[in-house]
Amino acid sequence: AEHPFHHLIDTLKDGRIKFFNPQKLNDPRYDKLPFSIRVLLEAAIRNCDGFYTKMEDVQKILAWQEQQDKAEVPFSPARVILQDFTGIPAMVDLAAMRDAVAKHGVDPALINPKCPTDLIVDHSFQIDFSKWSVTETALKNQEMELFRNKERLQFYKWCSKAFKNVNVVPPDVGAVHQVNLEYLSRVVQVSDGWIYPDSVVGTDSHTTMVNGLSILGWGVGGIESEAVMLGQPVSLTLPQVVGCKLVGSINPLSTSIDIVLGITKHLRQAGVSGKFVEFFGPGVSQLSVPDRTTIANMCPEYNATVSFFPVDAVALKHFKKTSESLQHCGSGQLKPLVFVQVIEINLSSMVPYISGPKRPQDRVAVSRMKEDFQSCLDEKVGFKGFHISKEKQKIQVPLLHCGQEYRLAHGAVVIAAVISCTNNCNPSVMLTAGLLAKKAVEAGLVVRPYIQTSLAPGSGMVTHYLSTSGVLPYLKQLGFEVIGYGCATCVGNMAPLPEAVVDAIRKGDLVACGVLSGNRHFEGRLCDCVRANYLAPPPLVVAYAIAGTVGIDFEKEPLGLTPGGEEVYLRDIWPSREEVQQTEEDTVISSIFKDLKRRMEVGNTFWNNLECPDSVVFSWDFKSTYIHPPPFFSRLVGPLPIENAHALLFLGDKVTTDHISPAGSIARASAAAKYLLSKRLTPRQFNSYGARRGNDAVMTRGTFASIKLQNRLIGKPGPKTLHIPSGQTMDVFEAADRYQRDGVPLIILAGRDYGSGSSRDWVAKGPYLLGVRAVIAESFENLHKNQLVGMGILPLQFISGQNADSLDLSGKERFTILVPESVGLRQQLTVKVGGSAPNHSGPFTSEAF
Ligand SMILES: *[C@@H]1O[C@H](CO)[C@@H](O)[C@H](O)[C@H]1NC(C)=O
Ligand SMILES: *[C@@H]1O[C@H](CO)[C@@H](O)[C@H](O)[C@H]1NC(C)=O
Repeated sequence: AEHPFHHLIDTLKDGRIKFFNPQKLNDPRYDKLPFSIRVLLEAAIRNCDGFYTKMEDVQKILAWQEQQDKAEVPFSPARVILQDFTGIPAMVDLAAMRDAVAKHGVDPALINPKCPTDLIVDHSFQIDFSKWSVTETALKNQEMELFRNKERLQFYKWCSKAFKNVNVVPPDVGAVHQVNLEYLSRVVQVSDGWIYPDSVVGTDSHTTMVNGLSILGWGVGGIESEAVMLGQPVSLTLPQVVGCKLVGSINPLSTSIDIVLGITKHLRQAGVSGKFVEFFGPGVSQLSVPDRTTIANMCPEYNATVSFFPVDAVALKHFKKTSESLQHCGSGQLKPLVFVQVIEINLSSMVPYISGPKRPQDRVAVSRMKEDFQSCLDEKVGFKGFHISKEKQKIQVPLLHCGQEYRLAHGAVVIAAVISCTNNCNPSVMLTAGLLAKKAVEAGLVVRPYIQTSLAPGSGMVTHYLSTSGVLPYLKQLGFEVIGYGCATCVGNMAPLPEAVVDAIRKGDLVACGVLSGNRHFEGRLCDCVRANYLAPPPLVVAYAIAGTVGIDFEKEPLGLTPGGEEVYLRDIWPSREEVQQTEEDTVISSIFKDLKRRMEVGNTFWNNLECPDSVVFSWDFKSTYIHPPPFFSRLVGPLPIENAHALLFLGDKVTTDHISPAGSIARASAAAKYLLSKRLTPRQFNSYGARRGNDAVMTRGTFASIKLQNRLIGKPGPKTLHIPSGQTMDVFEAADRYQRDGVPLIILAGRDYGSGSSRDWVAKGPYLLGVRAVIAESFENLHKNQLVGMGILPLQFISGQNADSLDLSGKERFTILVPESVGLRQQLTVKVGGSAPNHSGPFTSEAF
């Protein structure tokens, strides 16, 4: 049949490329839609099949102004991204589906994901950028790791060959978000002669990062991602979109970190929970792609669903290719968009801070640093005070170092450490420090030799780009020499200060200073005699080292003198943002990209040599304790009546997904351990529940196997329950197994906020395989409710004001739930209660949640 939006099809390149052009709707509402909503609209138009996505869904999205926060709409993303741990259950399910259809005489090769799926095997191979510092031991470890995971890798390799629409990124290429950003992201997807905006859902919480690259995407649960792979759209409430207008120009001394943290703080204060944030305004172009992806990655900080940066010249430059097709999704238009709310952020307001002198939380704007240090000298002893008398503040102590005489005063910098960890591992910040060092050396500035300077890059990657960008020799010339990797100065691992310096400090009872770019510090931690310690971004560490004192106003006072006696101010040698961004694009981004590409092409020797069957259905190794075909498709039956069910568990409030499907290690006495022991594994070989997500036998036994589970049927915490007919206490799995063998359906009784916490697919698959047919709770976490529905478990809510106690339930009753053919949201159902509760009489009502 003809596509219902056939009339919107446009072509490019003499008709060789086709796309849906929503401009052709000629609807004035379209021009006012935020770009993120246009991505939803285009996807709805393109995927309009009258079944999953209907004409009225397209209308609802067009009517976004009235329908936001009200209408439920479908969204079919362009692709799904899975990572190792979350990907395995999905792929195992698909393989089991092939078995199931083959059994019914259908060609198993027909079972494939409908939505293109990238699976990145990265989780257990955290080697990211170690290639620049790879040692023999590291390589050995890597081999061991690959060997341990051989079964899983063999399965993945089979997936890569057997399924259409599945792209497996082998181990050792890169971390999932890096690969997604640098390799898989497209902005414009091209498929079968069609082009459309890229968009993605992923099972990784970093998925939101891609919104910084103009690609709409967010994280979903495992079961939802499986549904998307199989062609079902994600269902979402049409989101409210908050416009974040960036104005003003960035303070020259501000680093990316200042900007990113500043914007994050604004968004947190503005309250954007559950909304889309979309950036616009004249300031946006000042943010580089890495800045944008960092802001987008921090969505969980301010609880937005996405932080979307529409396509602009900066994004296109990043991709180093332009596309003719962008006119309908690019931000080059002038008509104002409509947002539910606009937050204006003036980028000039984000001034650089440093913190200290004693606690990281005491922040001082760099422009006020001189006054602040003065007041610390005056104030009585405390977090912001040293109480030095006015008389003693003037002291200057002579210091002889390497044959040269210097004078030390209060505020003298004696330690300056550039450390790249946590926040400061942002390449642009480290490059700013490097370029500053270069300009300082070129201007003839020096760092006094008694100052203990050091450089501790977070990884080999940092040294690599400092070196390729040519700034490393300049840092070295100023004394910032690589002393090693990781936590060096931060934790006090440093050589002692020169004796003459220590003597001078003691003699004058001076408040000497350490300046470092680590993430924490404590009084006296660096060295007993250094009383003031400041945390500063790397370039300011270099600047204060050159100045030799923290008592400087960079605006008004020169940093130092050239050999010819000319004054040099900080602003004279501070690299511009453009220069830093250009260096970053040229050295960091292109090198990551080239490296990823090379790794993708070359592959990994272990992976390349790994043998795997060339079959249409997977030849399961039934001895494997990692990969096991799940029974979901072998016992496909219609909905069973829930008659005379027993309560498997009687739980209280706030049961989290960690209680339902713990992710950590497998306890020795647990049901899963018993199973693994029966397979002749030793406890050392158990590995974690996370690593065994491809084995339903382990995961079902691990369901509710939390030692923190509070089950009212047994009255003490632990992964046990009462098998009601026999009166025996046993493992939850064992009880469920006995009920299933006796044909008894099961329910769970629970209190408020059932199922909060991170979503993993076993939180619903596990209870399903235990035979749980319904959960009756006071309230549910929304995400978890969706997962239960996805597995065919009925989430029911007690009528408002009622709960198990008010209904006098002991949990030992038998429950019959009258489930009609189809159940709608908030539909009331009757639960009949009978059996061993003598006090209880009538049925109660609950509603489908
Ligand atoms: C941003 O703030 C700066 C400094 O406070 C001010 O000069 C400038 O006018 C502001 N810009 C806008 C667009 O509000
Ligand atoms: C985050 O947003 C979700 C969805 O709107 C909401 O349910 C939740 O309460 C929010 N969490 C916080 C900490 O604000």
